[in-house]
Amino acid sequence: MTANRYRCRLHQAAHERRLEMHPLTWWLRDDGERVGLDEYVAKDGYAVVRQVLGYQRPDEVIETLKAANIRGRGGGGFSAGVKWGLTLKGEDMPRGYLVCNADEMEPGTFKDRLLLEQAPHLLLEGMILGGYANDSCFGYIFLRGEYVTAARAITRAIEEARAAGWLGRDIAGSGFDFDIALHTGAGRYICGEETALINSLEGQRANPRAKPPFPGQSGAWGKPTVVNNVETLCNVPAVLRFGAEWYQGLSGERSGDGGTKLYGVSGKAHRTGLWELPIGTTAGELLDRAGGMRDGRSLKAWLPGGGSTGFLLPEHLDLALDFDTIGKTGSRLGTGLITLVADDQSMVALVRNLEKFFARESCGWCTPCRDGLPWTVKLLRALERGEGRPGDIELLEELAEDQGPGKTFCAHAPGAAMPLASAIEYFRDEFERGIARPGKDDVVPDGPLSTSEA
Ligand SMILES: Cc1cc2nc3c(=O)[nH]c(=O)nc-3n(C[C@H](O)[C@H](O)[C@H](O)COP(=O)(O)O)c2cc1C
Ligand code: SF4
Repeated sequence: MTANRYRCRLHQAAHERRLEMHPLTWWLRDDGERVGLDEYVAKDGYAVVRQVLGYQRPDEVIETLKAANIRGRGGGGFSAGVKWGLTLKGEDMPRGYLVCNADEMEPGTFKDRLLLEQAPHLLLEGMILGGYANDSCFGYIFLRGEYVTAARAITRAIEEARAAGWLGRDIAGSGFDFDIALHTGAGRYICGEETALINSLEGQRANPRAKPPFPGQSGAWGKPTVVNNVETLCNVPAVLRFGAEWYQGLSGERSGDGGTKLYGVSGKAHRTGLWELPIGTTAGELLDRAGGMRDGRSLKAWLPGGGSTGFLLPEHLDLALDFDTIGKTGSRLGTGLITLVADDQSMVALVRNLEKFFARESCGWCTPCRDGLPWTVKLLRALERGEGRPGDIELLEELAEDQGPGKTFCAHAPGAAMPLASAIEYFRDEFERGIARPGKDDVVPDGPLSTSEA
């Protein structure tokens, strides 16, 4: 396997990366091969496990994590330290589970894949430390089934870590017992939602669960369960090695959030791929690193972090790509991998494609999502063909409103509503061009809506 084979290519070469500046990717090789145990240990890998286990109490680890404020890289931006602090633990509580969310099916997102395929020991080290802090008895990596190379890399790394005593009983002589298993999913977007993931892990249908109780109180098999994203967990070793202040300082003046972020670019740019940069880097800088738009195209819009975030405009390129700054625009940072939309791309077709994905991936539990999304696709398909009817755009807005926050059981439908609502807000004229009018292209205005793609 070579680093060039996949879109998830890291564009910073080894000589451009330093541990103190690139805690996530410093470990990676230029050839894109998996970093095995010997190489990882030679680079001081697992040193933090030895440094922390038996020398720091779990609550001390959590305090450091809270001070560092690693915001959840799965897209929600919730502080990992706060989440760990809220997880039930204590002598009268059963030991629970630490689950790594490696489902990564967000459209336009391929950051966890890099870490899983190339730095599996970094993830295992983060999980051991997370397991220790949360008094977990066992860890699971819930992996998107199509990530076959990652599955091989993780399986091999678990075997290596077990053989070397980094997993199993009495890790590093600390008295702490912890092991990890890989669980491959069948490839469903909803399995990335943490409670649906837990159901799937238990062998049940992947429907989201009602919250409360939150997984930290009652998760997998009724035990306290922490679910964290791959990138979130990969930050943990460096935070415990260099401290919360160092982590906060990584972003400099760019952002109130600390640390680095695996940012990425997809779409019609010269160079798509990944960069590890201080959090708060702007999308404009990412576009520059990507060599600008290709083939003389110009930028019309962009998604800041996957298909479930709202479109932004070229005028937003100078904003810091962090949770709060992007949140203030009405969009979300999401996964932080930007998708570029070129001037010659149809917003209606693009949104129709996204909504078709979200409709297919709905678990079917609530009406605005189960029925609303296929209806949305039907309306968009008609507009795309120039067969829309007067009132369709308003109907789409109503559907997006009904799929918004608080109207459905989980955040799948609100995520699906974001690109739709923002595309109509910024590019209404493109949607209006899809309304059939008498005499316009000889299309009959009140013809039946197409159902072929719904
Ligand atoms: C529909 C849906 C899909 C999701 N998919 C993922 C995913 O693939 N990976 C992920 O880490 N989080 C995903 N999330 C967020 C998780 O529910 C959860 O918030 C996250 O794993 C927590 O980890 P973090 O705090 O480290 O970000 C998804 C959420 C929703 C609503
Ligand atoms: S919003 Fe959609 S995916 Fe989430 S529970 Fe409801 S039907 Fe299922």
